[in-house]
Amino acid sequence: MAFMKKYLLPIGGLFLAYFFYSAHDEFRPEMLQGKKVIVTGASKGIGEEIAYQLSKMGAHVVVTARSKETLQKVVSHCLELGAASAHSIAGTMEDMTFAEQFVVQAGKLMGGLDMLILNHITNTSMSLFNNDIHHVRKSMEVNFLSYVVLSVAALPMLKQSSGSIVVVSSLAGKMANPLIAPYSASKFALDGFFSSIRTEYSITKVNVSITLCFLGLINTETAMKAISGIYDDASGPAPKDQCALEIIKGGALRQEEIYYGNIPWVAFLLRNPGRKFMEFLNLKSYNMDKFKTN
Ligand SMILES: NC(=O)c1ccc[n+]([C@@H]2O[C@H](COP(=O)([O-])OP(=O)(O)OC[C@H]3O[C@@H](n4cnc5c(N)ncnc54)[C@H](OP(=O)(O)O)[C@@H]3O)[C@@H](O)[C@H]2O)c1
Ligand SMILES: *[C@@H]1O[C@H](CO)[C@@H](O)[C@H](O)[C@H]1NC(C)=O
Ligand SMILES: *[C@@H]1O[C@H](CO)[C@@H](O)[C@H](O)[C@H]1NC(C)=O
Repeated sequence: MAFMKKYLLPIGGLFLAYFFYSAHDEFRPEMLQGKKVIVTGASKGIGEEIAYQLSKMGAHVVVTARSKETLQKVVSHCLELGAASAHSIAGTMEDMTFAEQFVVQAGKLMGGLDMLILNHITNTSMSLFNNDIHHVRKSMEVNFLSYVVLSVAALPMLKQSSGSIVVVSSLAGKMANPLIAPYSASKFALDGFFSSIRTEYSITKVNVSITLCFLGLINTETAMKAISGIYDDASGPAPKDQCALEIIKGGALRQEEIYYGNIPWVAFLLRNPGRKFMEFLNLKSYNMDKFKTN
């Protein structure tokens, strides 16, 4: 058993990693140089790290979250790290009008858009579902609906650049977990919506890629506080800077899904070839001709 744990698992893991990632082009940081990128939820945690990684690669960034002062600090650091330009626009994604106007303003600041990285979530604590319908609605609005609004507003610019939408989700958007039902529902919704839209884009020849990122536990302050004393897996949390890099890579390589975290075998177990096969077969039953004209 010890032998298995020590050698077979890591070797198997490497093999699988190779199997899953070798089919794709190689990532080069220059791919992001001069690219125009929006990052939401970028005042802290993974979003902040994404902004820094992009800056090191020489991208233009516009970041958003609610806390104006914190965002301004993020912007200064982005400029120190080498961002081609960096701006922030503060506001809440509970407000769909803000969401829409934010994208338009960001597009004007950068003169277009290549990548929309959707990452923010409303605050969530781990607890049994206690009939808090208000929190369910807020989770659906902030974690899901605003993502749709932001994508809709960005689509004209993304079509022009043959750009990318990157959606940050969670393993809780692929499998059931106790204590986070509203959060999980909002993350599952992202998969349903954005995977369906991806299929439509493919049929209607819209060359905008959609990458869903299924993350395991990451060492952000928020996550560490939320799980403290409640959840403790043997693999521990994965680092947020590496996580940010994998998210950017997934988007730049136009991958459909990425899995990142410390738990082994996750990509292999959750990638669900059965679903992919059903989706493929199912498409054959549609007469899509009358939807193809625009
Ligand atoms: N950390 C993990 O273990 C983990 C695991 C799986 C998936 N994820 C996913 O990774 C993403 C980032 O997570 P994180 O741990 O980095 O979270 P975080 O550190 O708490 O960051 C959340 C960001 O969202 C912003 N935000 C919160 N409420 C907002 C609102 N109403 N309107 C606009 N922005 C709002 C926050 O800034 P303000 O408070 O200033 O608004 C902050 O910038 C999320 O999509 C999460 O589901 C994380
Ligand atoms: C989110 O934060 C607000 C304001 O701090 C608080 O009133 C609310 O209870 C929090 N919600 C959850 C689900 O933790
Ligand atoms: C879609 O856009 C990408 C990125 O610009 C490009 O590499 C690819 O060739 C395009 N695909 C098609 C079918 O035009």
